[in-house]
Amino acid sequence: MKKVEDFRVLGHKWLNYSSYIIELEAPEPLSPVQPGNFAEIEISNSPHVFLRRPFSIFDANPLTNTLSFYVKVIGEGTRVLGKARKGDKVNIIYPLGNAFSIPEKKNILVVAGGSGIAPFILYGKAMQKQGKQVTFLLGARKAEDIVLTEMFRPYGEVLITTEDGLLGEKGMVTQHSIFIGKDSPFEHIVTCGPEPMMKAVAGIARKKKVSCEVSLENTMACGFGACLCCIVETVDGNKCVCTEGPVFNINQLTWQT
Ligand SMILES: Cc1cc2nc3c(=O)[nH]c(=O)nc-3n(C[C@H](O)[C@H](O)[C@H](O)COP(=O)(O)OP(=O)(O)OC[C@H]3O[C@@H](n4cnc5c(N)ncnc54)[C@H](O)[C@@H]3O)c2cc1C
Ligand code: FES
Repeated sequence: MKKVEDFRVLGHKWLNYSSYIIELEAPEPLSPVQPGNFAEIEISNSPHVFLRRPFSIFDANPLTNTLSFYVKVIGEGTRVLGKARKGDKVNIIYPLGNAFSIPEKKNILVVAGGSGIAPFILYGKAMQKQGKQVTFLLGARKAEDIVLTEMFRPYGEVLITTEDGLLGEKGMVTQHSIFIGKDSPFEHIVTCGPEPMMKAVAGIARKKKVSCEVSLENTMACGFGACLCCIVETVDGNKCVCTEGPVFNINQLTWQT
């Protein structure tokens, strides 16, 4: 059930120069959330941020009624949210959007670039419960942008690429050696990150005949299907990423890969 509630800020954990986890406590028992769901967060402490900002739900704890979000600082909204003080109230609409599917196949590859890591802790937990074997491939330009690897490890093997070559394999995620060879050890791929990266991952999945889901991060305004600013073209016509996504099977999209 969707809720609009004032959450209480419990605190931030800064992960590097530009990203943090913010933990917030709900005023009442949490609505159930699924991996891939997102929330629209109001940034009321800034006179310059009018629209809510969308963030994937990073983690949810029904025992403590807390939600947490992984946030990369991009502009005013994400900067101001990073300065919220313990005890501040933050208005949140959640859970929004659809969720990743539970694939029938066992071996799953998660490919995450930059802030695209955000939906995958919940995903790793859910897949572990389903008895799936998950490998996380995390990519970033610089080694210092690779964060939270220890949080992913309980849910699967963690592979890394960095473009500066200071951590993991040098290059982009799509150049990782796991993709070398005709056959794929993976039977299903899920991905989130910059659109060119997701398109490249979709291309690999198609070539290797592996099913693939992407979580899109189109710019959003209303978050509930009214403004049409988050439209994506699909084989069944235009769809709102906020209500009919953010997760799409690549076969639904008209992407040329
Ligand atoms: C479904 C979804 C889930 C997301 N999950 C995460 C997440 O878990 N962690 C995270 O760090 N980021 C996430 N993002 C991106 C995040 O919403 C933007 O980085 C944030 O809104 C930027 O706000 P700002 O005020 O700091 O930047 P601004 O200065 O307002 O904008 C800078 C740039 O950010 C992008 N942007 C701005 N507003 C939006 C918006 N409403 N929707 C999408 N992009 C926007 C635009 O491309 C803009 O050019 C997600 C986006 C979507 C659509
Ligand atoms: S954000 Fe308004 S329709 Fe999707």
